[in-house]
Amino acid sequence: MFDFLRILYTRDQIADQVHRLGKEIDRDYAGREILLVCVLKGSFLFFADLVRSISRPMVMDFVRMASYGCDTISSGVVEMRKDLEFSVTDRDVIIVEDIVDTGYTLQTLYHRLLDRKPRSLKVCTLLDKRSDRRVQIEADYVGLSLDEGFVVGYGLDHQEKYRELPDLYVLEGSPCVDKERPI
Ligand code: IMP
Repeated sequence: MFDFLRILYTRDQIADQVHRLGKEIDRDYAGREILLVCVLKGSFLFFADLVRSISRPMVMDFVRMASYGCDTISSGVVEMRKDLEFSVTDRDVIIVEDIVDTGYTLQTLYHRLLDRKPRSLKVCTLLDKRSDRRVQIEADYVGLSLDEGFVVGYGLDHQEKYRELPDLYVLEGSPCVDKERPI
């Protein structure tokens, strides 16, 4: 069975927003070194483009989170599969997410990092899906917004497929199967 993909944002629209976000971060972090945290796997392409659009000094680190539930809807049970290698204490940290959907994943990671006493902690997300939000958490930097639908491409997957697509698509008619959903 084949999935049907409907184009949501083109690679040019994505590139414009990534460039804008880079400039906003440059403006806000003048004279400071940033620790950018990539949330694997979905953020890897966004992260790679974003770090190249930022001109401030930076270091990078990577975390991996997983949530459980239906394959397109998070249950709210989130675990950290891979922790950071650097300490965040007294650093200016930006979490880089692919999408904030229910908000459970970001909330879990945000509070874990906040407990480690960074100097500052902000969130940059490529996509903000506010209609599905279950917890109160906001990103400081938002690339693009959407109201509904499950998105694939540009790093985002459905059952590990479609990450390689250069544009963003809405997956039409995806069945909901109870399973572990790696992020
Ligand atoms: P949340 O915990 O529901 O906010 O979901 C966060 C994570 O679930 C994201 O980092 C994504 O990896 C994954 N996710 C949520 N919505 C989508 C989507 O529409 N497409 C692909 N992955 C998604």
